Amino acid sequence: MCGITGYIGYKEATPRLLAMLKKLEYRGYDSAGVATLCDGVLAVRKMKGPLSTLANALSTERMAGTLGVGHTRWATHGEPSDVNAHPHTDVSGRIAVVHNGIIENYAALKGFLQERGVAFRSDTDTEVVAHLLNYYYTRESGGGHNALLDATLKTVSKLEGSYSLGIVASDYPDRIIGARKDSPLIVGLGVGENYLASDVPALLSYTRDVCYLNERELAVLYRDRVALYNDSGERIVRQPTRVDWDVESAEKGGYAHFMLKEIHEQDKALSNTLGSRLRHSAGEAASIDFDEIRLDASWAAAKRVVIIACGTAYHAGVVGKYAFEHFARLAVEVDIASEYRYRNPLIDGGDIFIAISQSGETADTLAAMRQAKKGGGRILAITNTVGSTLSREADLVLYTRAGPEIAVASTKAFTTQLMCVYLLALRLGELRGTLSADDGKDTLRALANIPQQVRRILDKETALQKAAARRFSKRSVFFIGRLFDYATALESALKLKEISYTHSEAFAAGELKHGAIALVDKATLVVAIATQRPLFDKIISNIREVASRGAEVLVVTYEGERAFDAVANEIVAIPETRDALSPLLAIVPLQLFAYYCAVQKGNDPDKPRNLAKSVTVE
Ligand code: M6R
Repeated sequence: MCGITGYIGYKEATPRLLAMLKKLEYRGYDSAGVATLCDGVLAVRKMKGPLSTLANALSTERMAGTLGVGHTRWATHGEPSDVNAHPHTDVSGRIAVVHNGIIENYAALKGFLQERGVAFRSDTDTEVVAHLLNYYYTRESGGGHNALLDATLKTVSKLEGSYSLGIVASDYPDRIIGARKDSPLIVGLGVGENYLASDVPALLSYTRDVCYLNERELAVLYRDRVALYNDSGERIVRQPTRVDWDVESAEKGGYAHFMLKEIHEQDKALSNTLGSRLRHSAGEAASIDFDEIRLDASWAAAKRVVIIACGTAYHAGVVGKYAFEHFARLAVEVDIASEYRYRNPLIDGGDIFIAISQSGETADTLAAMRQAKKGGGRILAITNTVGSTLSREADLVLYTRAGPEIAVASTKAFTTQLMCVYLLALRLGELRGTLSADDGKDTLRALANIPQQVRRILDKETALQKAAARRFSKRSVFFIGRLFDYATALESALKLKEISYTHSEAFAAGELKHGAIALVDKATLVVAIATQRPLFDKIISNIREVASRGAEVLVVTYEGERAFDAVANEIVAIPETRDALSPLLAIVPLQLFAYYCAVQKGNDPDKPRNLAKSVTVE
């Protein structure tokens, strides 16, 4: 996730900007940069790689100045590189911008600016902000004390998506401007100096008095004061807040663990995944447009989809199997990558291979992908990591845009992988004519609702905490479900076992009586995931089977659903959605359940024993 820092005062800015960026390193990044202003000259230095590379370079080439902005970038548009790193400057080289978030309408804005002769240097969405600032500053603002603020107000009014911005301009050596929407930005207050940061840890060595910017607010930082504005340019008065977090809890945004923080980031992450890919008409989600990939007729004409992945990503692939069959009427095989690489699989040039990997570096997934490629298959990667090996070697790449995932147990990476899989299945369904216009629109509307429905589930966290407190000591937990619910069961069981070390397994509910039911007794908890409405009677029979053998049963189903009242010991309700989309919601309470079981057992959910975040060796 990108990080922003800013300093204006009476000391050298560069060492402070770098030190503040260092405090944001834990968030993950691929490049870093700073811009400072000295004697009316704007200097920018930015490099791919760790902050230490930039710091080493700057130890010999001094960047003077007592104000500036800094950035660590985590690529979303354009590969990690020197040129794509922030800060970005306008055509005149007099305005520099750092940005966190995603500008969803950057392509349209870029077109607007290119028609006016602007030449772009990078592949980023951010560069449009620098050029737009210049456009409004030179053409419409006409100079003056507030011209940079006016230009910023006009610029942000044109931006769709999410942003926090830090802006410096050589015409204004007395100020830094900050602005935010859907991405955090904080002003740190000092004496004769002030700070800007995207996250509290960057500020704690300098000040504990902060002003949090609210949605669509702007801040102008001078050396001796800070002025806040709303998006109409009206002044706002806000009392500073005193931060009493220690550094470690500040890194986790106040959450006890990264895993919990990442579970809570899912609504935002899913909005980012949808972003510009979901086009609206008359205020409603109406179509899918992947700006980064073109699925031409040859992809739509594929006879078969083969999905290869490991662990959680494999479970996203199982959802994919059901989704591609359901929406695009495509035959799908989903393979564990470590198996695929040693099979003697049939590879057809007409097949679509979808490799799913958060890191894009999992050894088995890469090996399976290379094998499919060698056999003539076309590879579409779904990954969270721009510039990863998978993204470089695949033919097409769809990024999940979840932001860095630090906890070993995957949460937001999974739900955003699901979102990508659904978008692909729906788009292929449209192209193949297997999805009626009405069905397509209804499903897109339901998809657009998912982020706020996830938020509603997260707001009921305490109920899951209590459910876990009552059951964390169970000897075995079995997750059962049918169709899409079976895929959710697989991921739920993995989540619980990897962090709580409780024996947990997933079964297709209909398989119970073919063997697994022999394990069920009074010490067993069965979690029945029940969102496939036409199969409610079937899952109720399965619940009766396990309950009559003494198992306690927790049912995950839709709010207001009464079908399970008589058979469940407890019901966990999720908002209603289309049955085919339910994994996007049903997994969320079960992530929380797994998390709280682990905490109850005294485990550190962020560092489960024997596991690594990225399995880059076999
Ligand atoms: O980076 P990848 O998505 O390729 O990683 C695959 C698995 O190693 C990963 O999903 C693993 O199963 C997670 N720790 C599960 O939470």
